[in-house]
Amino acid sequence: MMSLVTDAQKAGRRVGLTSDEIVITGGNPLIGRIGVRGAKNLATKAMVAALLGETPSVLRDVPEISDVDVVRGLLEVYGVVVTSTAPGELQFDTSNVEKAHFAEIDAHAGSSRIPILFCGPLLHRLGEARIPDLGGCRIGDRPIDFHLDALRAFGAVVDKGYEGIYITAPDGLKGANIELPYPSVGATEQVLLTAVRAKGTTELKNAAIEPEIMDLIAILQKMGAIISVEPNRVILIEGVDRLEGYKHRALFDRNEVASWAAAALATRGDIFVEGALQSELMTFLNVFRKVGGAFDVEDDGIRFYHPGGELKPVTVETDVHPGFMTDWQQPLIVALTQANGISIVHETVYENRLGFTKSLNDMGANIVVHPQGLPDVPRRVARRDFEQAAVITGPTKLHGADVLVPDLRGGFSYLIAALVAEGTSTISNVGIISRGYEHFIEKLAALGADFEYEG
Ligand code: EPU
Repeated sequence: MMSLVTDAQKAGRRVGLTSDEIVITGGNPLIGRIGVRGAKNLATKAMVAALLGETPSVLRDVPEISDVDVVRGLLEVYGVVVTSTAPGELQFDTSNVEKAHFAEIDAHAGSSRIPILFCGPLLHRLGEARIPDLGGCRIGDRPIDFHLDALRAFGAVVDKGYEGIYITAPDGLKGANIELPYPSVGATEQVLLTAVRAKGTTELKNAAIEPEIMDLIAILQKMGAIISVEPNRVILIEGVDRLEGYKHRALFDRNEVASWAAAALATRGDIFVEGALQSELMTFLNVFRKVGGAFDVEDDGIRFYHPGGELKPVTVETDVHPGFMTDWQQPLIVALTQANGISIVHETVYENRLGFTKSLNDMGANIVVHPQGLPDVPRRVARRDFEQAAVITGPTKLHGADVLVPDLRGGFSYLIAALVAEGTSTISNVGIISRGYEHFIEKLAALGADFEYEG
């Protein structure tokens, strides 16, 4: 593993770090150029889609993140031969797909939620799917009821046992009319991955339409699927008998881009993110501009920078696409601690995704979370009673502290907070950040961050 020696290390400020800690000395703007590759939330699903192909698939721009390793391990458990054919390129040979036991699946599933998406492809290939208890970031209940209801609508039989869930399709899978209670990203992917080879036509209403889903549809179309995206969140899928492998370059990781953009803003820095595309970031860019950030869109990426002067407060509500993504709010909140006035961030997608703000308060931020949300905020998707709102009063001077990474996006926001803070912060549990941020340690180094890390 890598070992980076920084100015702080040379100055002998800290010894004896564990491999899961980073010590950051704040106060320097992040300045420089970094690149992003394929999106975590697409690449992992594209890897699952490869299971549906009778011939090998090739995915390019695959990020080196641990969630990709988890899915690779799972595919290998099912007999898929995964080969690194070039830097950032994986090939999946599915000629010998075979059944696996709960224990093997569980051992490879790690803390990921991806196993649930294997159901459709496994039912088509093997006639059964076994799903162990699922992990993923602890940002709410994260149930899988939409997934299981959709699978049942296709004719699957779901049995729950002590090891996990055992799913079969004694009469095969048939196209279905499904309306999701909420435009869930995962449940939409579940329906797509199952319907493409089910007998007959599937109509999915209230589907999620995130860019990562559109990219998955593009992959499935390359494989031979017939899918049309209709107005008003309706997706029609005509089942086919056979799918081939695909060759595809994964959509860039817009959540990673938004995170580095927020880091540029919060640290009064200037970061060029190679590979970022404006079209998938329009909603983020509007908010970034309203807060006082500046950006230049170039052909090969986007430059995000603090143009000087004060940052301004905003009111933002997270939502499904094309709304402001829930994954963007954590890094943004750190930037808002530096804005002059009161900002409100209303989380409507997850029930429990503002807990990370507690440690920001320990670092000097002034953030109050209202557990029931704000009463009069109009919502496009009124849904549950759990919504929460964070009220951020700024600007506040942040100071170094010892903090523990709670989840992926919250973890990245602590990196930003530590970079803004006066003094030194120790951030533990940073391994979680590698689930979704490729080479973030090297990128921090390239942007001039002052830190110690022993990988
Ligand atoms: N939900 C249910 N029942 C279900 C499925 C979802 O109630 O069966 C609820 C969830 O509890 C949540 C809401 O619906 O409150 C939305 O969940 P969704 O299914 O859309 O999320 P997901 O597919 O589990 C993906 C991303 C998340 C991202 C969300 C929203 C992956 C692997 N994960 O999760 O990414 O926040 O969509 O866009 O694609 C991250 O990258 O940090 C991350 C958490």
